[in-house]
Amino acid sequence: MTAIRLHRDNRRIEAPVEMASFLDGEGLLYRNWDVSKLCGGLRDNYALTDAEKAEILATFDSDLEKLKTEGGYVAADIVVLWEKTPDLESLLGKFSREHHHSEDEVRFVVDGHGIFTIRGRSGRYFDVSVGPGDLITVPTGTRHWFTLAEDRRIKCIRLFQDPAGWAAIYDET
Ligand code: LAC
Ligand code: NI
Repeated sequence: MTAIRLHRDNRRIEAPVEMASFLDGEGLLYRNWDVSKLCGGLRDNYALTDAEKAEILATFDSDLEKLKTEGGYVAADIVVLWEKTPDLESLLGKFSREHHHSEDEVRFVVDGHGIFTIRGRSGRYFDVSVGPGDLITVPTGTRHWFTLAEDRRIKCIRLFQDPAGWAAIYDET
């Protein structure tokens, strides 16, 4: 995680311990997992085959299983957003409007960067910039949106409580 930025006063939180305690206070789970465990062409590769995606999931299997048990997550997949993602602009359009889900949003960043803007439990809006190794869990019902960072690419493991996968409820702002 590179930084948190509060919208109201533009305050930035950059010290790891402070970031973790801020997120905890706002009801978000944050972890950091070791992406150097991924070898071969699994890192910095956005044109993944299904076999490579399965290898990435297998590399983090024990961590994922633990999280699944704790959070009731039943499905996992890998989402890749980069210049060659079909319908990239329309997907980004869906993510960049304020929304929430009827389940937790769990994202583990393998490569690339992104910015989650979140309305925390205090009602404050803040940005969380994430990068490789960051795992963030946005709880059920929490309003948020997502944009890419300057590198315009990200590769994440997602976990779902609903086996049907991703669905969003849009919020009027
Ligand atoms: C999602 C994020 C990006 O719903 O908010 O997938
Ligand atoms: Ni979402």
